[in-house]
Amino acid sequence: MDHFKIAVIDDEAIAGREIKRGLSAESYEVETFLNATSALHRLDQVSFDLFLCDLRLPDLSGMDVLRSVRTRCPQSEVIIMTGYSSIDSAIEAIRDGAFHYITKPVKMNELRLLVRRALDKVMLVREKEALKEALFSQNQPAKIIGNSKAIRDVFRMIEKVAPLDCTVLIQGESGTGKEMVARALHEQSPRKHQPFVSFNCGGFTEELIANELFGHEKGAFTGATEAKIGLLEAANKGTIFLDEISQMPISMQVKLLRFVEERSLLRLGGVKSLQVDIRLVAASNQDLKAMVKAQAFREDLYYRLNVVLISLPPLRERRDDIPLLIRHFLHKYRRAFGKAINGISADVLDILRQYPFPGNVRELENIIERAVALCDEHEISSRDLPSDLKTLSIRSFDDKTYVSLEDKEKQYIQEVLIKTNYQKGLAAEILGLPRTSLWRKMKRYGLT
Ligand SMILES: Nc1ncnc2c1ncn2[C@@H]1O[C@H](COP(=O)(O)OP(=O)(O)OP(=O)(O)O)[C@@H](O)[C@H]1O
Ligand SMILES: [Mg+2]
Repeated sequence: MDHFKIAVIDDEAIAGREIKRGLSAESYEVETFLNATSALHRLDQVSFDLFLCDLRLPDLSGMDVLRSVRTRCPQSEVIIMTGYSSIDSAIEAIRDGAFHYITKPVKMNELRLLVRRALDKVMLVREKEALKEALFSQNQPAKIIGNSKAIRDVFRMIEKVAPLDCTVLIQGESGTGKEMVARALHEQSPRKHQPFVSFNCGGFTEELIANELFGHEKGAFTGATEAKIGLLEAANKGTIFLDEISQMPISMQVKLLRFVEERSLLRLGGVKSLQVDIRLVAASNQDLKAMVKAQAFREDLYYRLNVVLISLPPLRERRDDIPLLIRHFLHKYRRAFGKAINGISADVLDILRQYPFPGNVRELENIIERAVALCDEHEISSRDLPSDLKTLSIRSFDDKTYVSLEDKEKQYIQEVLIKTNYQKGLAAEILGLPRTSLWRKMKRYGLT
């Protein structure tokens, strides 16, 4: 992980090259810039751990660079280079957050020492951050991330119902975090030290589901050479999570209803029913109520499951959470892949802010995981995005600031009508419309 990138900003090309040569011997990666603007511009794609910056530059001053670095990459350090005549300003720079200054002409030994110390500090801060992360994530294996109103409502709901034994139905599009919520309900309940058993109802026949959930006695059917306990039995005292409940065959729903009502089960081929103590959580990415209407889901079971409903908002309806989620996944995969990546470029953020995320948080996570894997720099750039996302940057626009042509027409007609005090003849003339067309449009838009 200890790979350091240093920016040298000096308008004297020879001095810059000298420093680069001197430091490259230490296997730092050094980039030189002849002015501040080009260096700061470069920050859009990569980030540097350390800046060696001349105090006097042709465009901005070293102090400007310092301020910019402090806000844009607070974990980096700046060393100011200056002639003897302007040591006062250099000292001022330290007060403003520079690591130190060095006088020109630069003595290479002195510089190496100073750079080493600055990078030690950078590393220390990094390690402290990593430690903090590790500590925070210890007791929460999967933290649900978000700060939008929509997701905070979900948090509040979880907090409220988790300690109770009531059945919960979680609804939300694919990848919105239904399983995470189910686990959180279990983790925050008195059953947390008991089993959490998850079963996905999708794609199984009735027989298979029955066998999985209820288990069987020895000899219950050909091939049943041993007795097998079902998942419901395994979940006793804990929580059973029935995922994709909408996929459960109707015939199986009857059996499940009996279990939900009586909390008792019978193994296939068994004679004695077993009483169990189980908290039930179900999830669906379909609208179960609509399915009930369409007679694709049993109404009685629906009401048994829908004691408390937690609806998870799609990511496109809580875009405020996108930067937060990006940072979260960036940290996660940076650590997993052992890469020194410090952020994402502004255009990537723009793209992700606009993308509709049909696959919701899971899709965002996959995008970041892939980008971290591909990224060769310290910062993720649009190169690291899947190609269908990259094209978004070209035709990027904020769909909220644009309205339809009709809306625009309505607004404009209304504006002209108000300005002309509803003199339709005059308004029609201004708008370049026959009176009858204006009249029709007014009726259509409810402006009469
Ligand atoms: N709010 C969140 N914070 C952090 N990670 C999240 C969040 N929501 C979802 N994820 C991540 O997205 C992925 C999908 O989450 P999960 O499996 O809970 O979704 P789901 O709603 O069950 O999806 P599906 O309907 O496809 O089964 C997981 O890897 C999870 O870590
Ligand atoms: Mg799921």
